Amino acid sequence: MKRRKFLATGSVWGATSVIAKGAEDLKPKKLVPGATTSPMVISTWDFGVRANKKAIEVLATGGTALDAVQQGVMVVESDPTVTSVGYGGLPNAAGVVELDASIMDGSDLECGAVAGLSGFENPISVARKVMEETPHVLIVGSGARQFALSKGFQERDLLTEQSRKAWQAWRANQKEKRQIDDHDTIGMVAVDQRGQMAAACTTSGLAWKIPGRVGDSPLVGHGLYCDSDVGGAAATGIGEEIVKVCGSYQVVEYMRQGVHPQDAVKRVLQRVLDRQPDKPDRWVGFVALRRDGEVGYASTNTGFQVAVADLASSRLIVAASLR
Ligand code: GLY
Repeated sequence: MKRRKFLATGSVWGATSVIAKGAEDLKPKKLVPGATTSPMVISTWDFGVRANKKAIEVLATGGTALDAVQQGVMVVESDPTVTSVGYGGLPNAAGVVELDASIMDGSDLECGAVAGLSGFENPISVARKVMEETPHVLIVGSGARQFALSKGFQERDLLTEQSRKAWQAWRANQKEKRQIDDHDTIGMVAVDQRGQMAAACTTSGLAWKIPGRVGDSPLVGHGLYCDSDVGGAAATGIGEEIVKVCGSYQVVEYMRQGVHPQDAVKRVLQRVLDRQPDKPDRWVGFVALRRDGEVGYASTNTGFQVAVADLASSRLIVAASLR
């Protein structure tokens, strides 16, 4: 981290300022044995600021990291202006919004996920039900829909007027590609006052995808991984590239070996780049949070933003890119 400089948008809760500062400002929060942890959360993209705000509200009142990441990412899932997650997410090639989500409890490695789920605004909550009320980890497609209905989730049309028009425009001219600045998955990692950690990851996946395509986000170890003994990581970007390197698991495993979160993220990104040097559109980014509050974040390509918050402050950071 010290070798890089970042432009950070600093925001003490309630007031906002734009400041250029080094990544050293994301100072480590060392744990004193026996003391409670200072709650902290990191998430992907600028919409992560709003998600973090909710997560910190949960953590500030002594809530669990698991509740914090679930409620945090739900803010983005329910936001119709976000076209890459939940309600308002861009649909697949057939005009159907198919959602993928996963959640992981770092205290015991329990996890749950849904993939290809249509018609439910908050797939992260369905994923948590999979984790807590079934012996399974991942439920997909029509089975996930039936499961959600059986748990009392309400169906709704996930297409907004905007996303329907975007799909119609794409269908009329199928050369249109999704751009990086359309943003992507929200991935979040949090640590609570007890030092327990959790992660969540939720997306509508790639716009105009082949129906049934599943990316990294609902795949534990790829879109996210979390172990309270070490830390957690979450991914954004082209899911197919993240899956090829077991991205989030590998970030956490590097941290377990003593590698700093920033270097752990960079090592995994470098592996992606080394194997795909001629595919600049195959971009990937990660956020990582170690259990002591050290963070890491970077992307293969420029333009990735990361939101970091604790009880006192919130920052939106333009992350370093390796290309
Ligand atoms: N990272 C989201 C996806 O590829 O589906």
